[in-house]
Amino acid sequence: MEKTQPVELGTGCGVAAMCLYFLGLKDVVLTDIAPVMPALKHNLKRNKPVLGKMLKTSQLHWNNSDQIKALKPSFDFVIAADVVYIEESVKPLLAAMEAMVSDSGVVLLGYQVRSPEAHALFWEQCYRIFDVQMVPHEHLHPEYAYEKFDVYILRNKV
Ligand SMILES: C[S@@+](CC[C@H](N)C(=O)[O-])C[C@H]1O[C@@H](n2cnc3c(N)ncnc32)[C@H](O)[C@@H]1O
Repeated sequence: MEKTQPVELGTGCGVAAMCLYFLGLKDVVLTDIAPVMPALKHNLKRNKPVLGKMLKTSQLHWNNSDQIKALKPSFDFVIAADVVYIEESVKPLLAAMEAMVSDSGVVLLGYQVRSPEAHALFWEQCYRIFDVQMVPHEHLHPEYAYEKFDVYILRNKV
């Protein structure tokens, strides 16, 4: 079943999801690997007075199909920011995106080149799986846009 609820992959300390929450993406589920969870939960707790609630979290390693299934995909919005930096993680990341996004859904990807190897592999594989649209910089919020950071919309190929 498709979910309008968004999910974030590799949320880190949760900054992107918290910003998106303020922009109206409610009920976002923030995911990351187990070692990140304590710092993430601590950060969300500290921001709870501003957010008005504790955002949901779920442990998710991109390689772990049980953890993916536990989230009961598919999702209409899969969010990921700055997650392409380890070559070995590229294929599991793309597989997790593919498993989680609904047929008519989108992956919103905030992207910066971190590693030339991961960058090359990611885009070579990504274009095989998804239709890729780069959001023009002039469409990004002038206060938050950064010249080295791009935003992409990935959709399942029709
Ligand atoms: C550079 S940080 C970006 C964090 C956050 N999205 C941001 O923009 O501030 C990359 C994140 O991806 C997570 N990550 C890396 N490999 C992962 C994997 N195999 N499964 C799940 N998360 C992973 C890391 O734990 C880390 O939080």
